[in-house]
Amino acid sequence: MSSLPHHGPAQSEGDVNHSPRRASWQAEHLDSATRALLARDSAAFLHQSVSTPCLDVIVKAEGIWIEDLAGRRCMDFHGNNVHHVGYAHPDVVAAIKSQLDALSFAPRRFASQRAVELAETLGARFKSLTGSDAKLLFTTGGSDAVEVAIKLARAATGRFKTLSFWDAFHGAGFGASSVGGESLFRGGRIGPLLPGSEHVAPFGCYRCPYGHPVDADGRPRLEQCKLACASMVRYVLEREGDVAAVIAEPARAVPFIPPPGYWHAVREACDATGTLLIFDEIPTGLGKTGRFFAAEHDGAKPDIVVLGKALGGGVLPIAACIARAGLDVAGDYAFGHYTHEKNPVSAAAALATLQVIEREGLVEHAARLGAHALARLQEMKRRHPLIGDVRGRGLLLGIDLVTDRDAKSPAADAAERVLYAALSRGLSFKTTMGNVLTLTPPLITTREQMARALDILDGCLADAA
Ligand SMILES: Cc1ncc(COP(=O)(O)O)c(C=O)c1O
Repeated sequence: MSSLPHHGPAQSEGDVNHSPRRASWQAEHLDSATRALLARDSAAFLHQSVSTPCLDVIVKAEGIWIEDLAGRRCMDFHGNNVHHVGYAHPDVVAAIKSQLDALSFAPRRFASQRAVELAETLGARFKSLTGSDAKLLFTTGGSDAVEVAIKLARAATGRFKTLSFWDAFHGAGFGASSVGGESLFRGGRIGPLLPGSEHVAPFGCYRCPYGHPVDADGRPRLEQCKLACASMVRYVLEREGDVAAVIAEPARAVPFIPPPGYWHAVREACDATGTLLIFDEIPTGLGKTGRFFAAEHDGAKPDIVVLGKALGGGVLPIAACIARAGLDVAGDYAFGHYTHEKNPVSAAAALATLQVIEREGLVEHAARLGAHALARLQEMKRRHPLIGDVRGRGLLLGIDLVTDRDAKSPAADAAERVLYAALSRGLSFKTTMGNVLTLTPPLITTREQMARALDILDGCLADAA
């Protein structure tokens, strides 16, 4: 079994709960009522990295905004990627209320109309991505849906191994942690995870794990690297010879965008070795990257897609494991036996969310607004030596901070300073790998709101320098 050395923060934020800068931000901003509730929260919940103890208390979430107990409002450019249609979208809330009155739960042995409608809608989306008919299962959370995908791949191939990326996050369950590649979720005293969970270095051109160079705009020099990252996937699949599935995010949430041709090469390697390709689109799906599925950018056809997070409209938890219909081969097992498998209320929330995304043209809007934001970030890069690279697709944007552009040394301390300064000025986002400012605004963000957010960032970067 692969083992992962401790290497500090990867895709998640690292151990930010205990940073001195966070403590001084709290000393400056929190009132006594907030402190009292934070103390009760800290006393009541098990402590764990990147959640409890908490930073602040939230009392309202609406549109792109969150509001704390002291009435301070922040644009939420993080939102755990649940808020594609904005928090508390009226159509989603109305659909939930009306479904609560009509039918609030469906025990598993009964079909429920909303769940069927949602399955058909997502199945049609999968067909337009892959050309194949789909069958699917719903789960309560993304981690569970990832585990359904792994079990299905095992059942369909008769193999048990998986190949996934170091530094990836796929959820907190044992199976999901096994295919994940972050020490935060799999290291230390947690002990052995699933056998056969093999890992490979991911694509990540600006910081290519294989040491290949990029041009001044962070683009790979394919004539030199010859897609070494994809060749390594093929190498491992061939050497192992019995891997059930490759599981990965089509665009890494850090973010890192795949080099051109990457997923085609991996798809070919999968086909050559009888391996399934599973795309985890839990944060990137439903339009985040400016296409309904992030995989569309690369033209690669997965066998299984996993969706979650924003599917419940930022209100209810629901995720989906969508597979090509030919993989419906395990009807005598119960590998996705979840209590809320056909919950009509969460299905109604998801249907309303999909309608909002389509009616409001949010996928196209994300593509346009993201391109505009990326151009502005590139302009900021020319002025701020702290910025080593900017990259993204749609509304998945990253600003890689460095102390030295040539050495590309990660500027984690500056990233933390920018984060807390931005929070004070009304913008919330996440830092990834310690030094990448990661912006994942809702798809309803307007041009004006984006301009305001990037103005805040611009000012904070100037101060941090
Ligand atoms: C890529 C990816 N996969 C899986 C998950 C797990 O989803 P959940 O938290 O709903 O279990 C996440 C959550 O952040 C994610 O980003």
